[in-house]
Amino acid sequence: MNDSNWEWYSNHRDSQQSVGLDLLSLWTDDWENGEIVLDIGCGTGELTKMIAERDNVKSVIGVDISANAIEFASKNNSVDGKTQYLVGDAMLLPETLSHFEKAFTKVYCNEALHWMEDKQTVLRNACWCLKETGSFLFHIDRVKSPFYNVYHKSIDLPKWMKYLKDFQPKFCPFLRSLKDLQDMISRSGFKKYPRTIERYHYSFSADTKDKHIGFLRPLMTHLDLIPASLHEDFLEDCFQIFQRASTKTEDGVLHWSAEAFHVKVYK
Ligand SMILES: C[S@@+](CC[C@H](N)C(=O)[O-])C[C@H]1O[C@@H](n2cnc3c(N)ncnc32)[C@H](O)[C@@H]1O
Repeated sequence: MNDSNWEWYSNHRDSQQSVGLDLLSLWTDDWENGEIVLDIGCGTGELTKMIAERDNVKSVIGVDISANAIEFASKNNSVDGKTQYLVGDAMLLPETLSHFEKAFTKVYCNEALHWMEDKQTVLRNACWCLKETGSFLFHIDRVKSPFYNVYHKSIDLPKWMKYLKDFQPKFCPFLRSLKDLQDMISRSGFKKYPRTIERYHYSFSADTKDKHIGFLRPLMTHLDLIPASLHEDFLEDCFQIFQRASTKTEDGVLHWSAEAFHVKVYK
């Protein structure tokens, strides 16, 4: 994620919001009074706030690696007495937030695991955070999403090589196979997990180039390595790649869709 403008992300995250709400809908059946929830990679906190507003939720902690995102979330998406936002790396929770051990009844993670390199450790840490019988609900992307193409192809464009040659890509989705996911879950300490995990298809549509670029800009972690005067030019190139991976309907709306998994596992 580009760390310099979280207000922009907050204003252009329709796609993440709709995926996050679909994910949350898997939790309606086992929601009890007094839930204590951890939102991993909470970003600007819109979904954290929605979780906090549920009557049966006692409190929610949103954790994110970005201090700027946490500052934005605290200012804009706090619910009195129910939310707390903390800076933390999901891969290092036992080392840095040791009071999280067995502290939560639910852990949630929307659209964030693909930014975390060591997913196995994040899953193990989510299990470590949960009380007995607690559950972890997460979204996990497949490697071959149109966004993956835009992100990686934009780094390799010869035109931008002089700025990006030393850049280490941060976007690292997972899932070569469903078995890989099941193995990773079972190695993380979860006792109950589905043997068949339903695929989740999500889509993004926009009728203007501005909306597409609005969505792409905060996700381009390498943007700040390019001089500000060339940002629009670079984003235009990203949009062109995006457009080639999309389908266009007669009304001029561009659509793309991708496959991911929504998974609920129990300790
Ligand atoms: C696309 S945003 C999703 C934010 C939010 N969950 C939503 O649905 O809008 C991904 C978030 O993961 C955070 N993130 C990336 N790596 C992380 C890590 N290792 N630990 C905690 N948060 C991380 C980013 O800073 C970013 O806020």
